[in-house]
Amino acid sequence: MRSDANVAGPMTDPVPGPRAESVGDGVSRETPPPMDDTPIGRAAQLAVEALGRAGEGLPRPNRTRVMVVANQKGGVGKTTTTVNLAASLALHGARVLVVDLDPQGNASTALGIDHHADVPSIYDVLVESRPLSEVVQPVPDVEGLFCAPATIDLAGAEIELVSLVARESRLQRAIQAYEQPLDYILIDCPPSLGLLTVNAMVAGAEVLIPIQCEYYALEGLGQLLRNVDLVRGHLNPALHVSTILLTMYDGRTRLASQVAEEVRTHFGKEVLRTSIPRSVRISEAPSYGQTVLTYDPGSSGSLSYLEAAREIALRGVGVHYEAQHAHTSSQNSQQNVSEGIQ
Ligand SMILES: Nc1ncnc2c1ncn2[C@@H]1O[C@H](COP(=O)(O)OP(=O)(O)OP(=O)(O)O)[C@@H](O)[C@H]1O
Ligand SMILES: [Mg+2]
Repeated sequence: MRSDANVAGPMTDPVPGPRAESVGDGVSRETPPPMDDTPIGRAAQLAVEALGRAGEGLPRPNRTRVMVVANQKGGVGKTTTTVNLAASLALHGARVLVVDLDPQGNASTALGIDHHADVPSIYDVLVESRPLSEVVQPVPDVEGLFCAPATIDLAGAEIELVSLVARESRLQRAIQAYEQPLDYILIDCPPSLGLLTVNAMVAGAEVLIPIQCEYYALEGLGQLLRNVDLVRGHLNPALHVSTILLTMYDGRTRLASQVAEEVRTHFGKEVLRTSIPRSVRISEAPSYGQTVLTYDPGSSGSLSYLEAAREIALRGVGVHYEAQHAHTSSQNSQQNVSEGIQ
């Protein structure tokens, strides 16, 4: 894992214009034809053209940022966010590892990584103490992106870990022993707060919480935040919620903007100004073993993840993020749309 001072200069890929919460889902098929035959070249080419501007480099973190993508609520966009942010950061020039910590293996699937039962996986790392380097695979379509896949074995790991030595810090140890240089490690957690999620929280300093813009969006978040406090108090003093990302935002509904407003009121500066629109392209991409960045580079979903990645990269080095079209959430939300944090 990289921990030296950094400096490889700015990430080289283009930086998109911001996509605030009003982004629609209509540009995708109008993007120009590819200029390069490789998937990565095609993706980059289309992204450049779709974005219409290039050359604004992104800073790399001066040490590896380990981000835990967690929310014990199911289906809020954890996996979608993990793989698409990871691909976006890689397209911006960073070296990124996705750790699939969910027995469902959705992140592995979405990245086109083989994860049938015999594939060396994160289970072997956690339970059999196998080095992380022996399970990491390069993601075929995106240069600089890697994945430690999850297989179905992982379903038993919550129980098997209980009797093992240092059961909460096995992932942390594996990551610390991993010698490849990395800018980011994104850990996709299962929808629970068991030992797998605890392992992720011990391994990383930053928690990224995706919140779906729907009724009761904040319900259950109190429990997640209390777990973060517990892990910080006992196992990992560096742990903090660094990033909140609003997902599946539908700008046509008043409910979505009310939820966004409420989340911003509760969390303030942790909430990214970029939110992710509800987009058919985003939901289609995994069935082709792709991220939306390669599946449809010019789509609103792709652009919004690129923009969220830009915001995360800038925050990481303390640079103030300037959106071209700043978020304007509803100022007249009358109704309390969630039950608040419980
Ligand atoms: N922005 C979006 N627009 C449209 N569909 C989306 C979007 N984000 C996620 N989805 C879809 O919503 C579903 C749930 O997303 P995802 O699997 O990322 O959630 P999750 O939190 O990882 O779920 P789980 O808790 O089961 O791991 C998926 O079918 C995904 O394709
Ligand atoms: Mg998931």
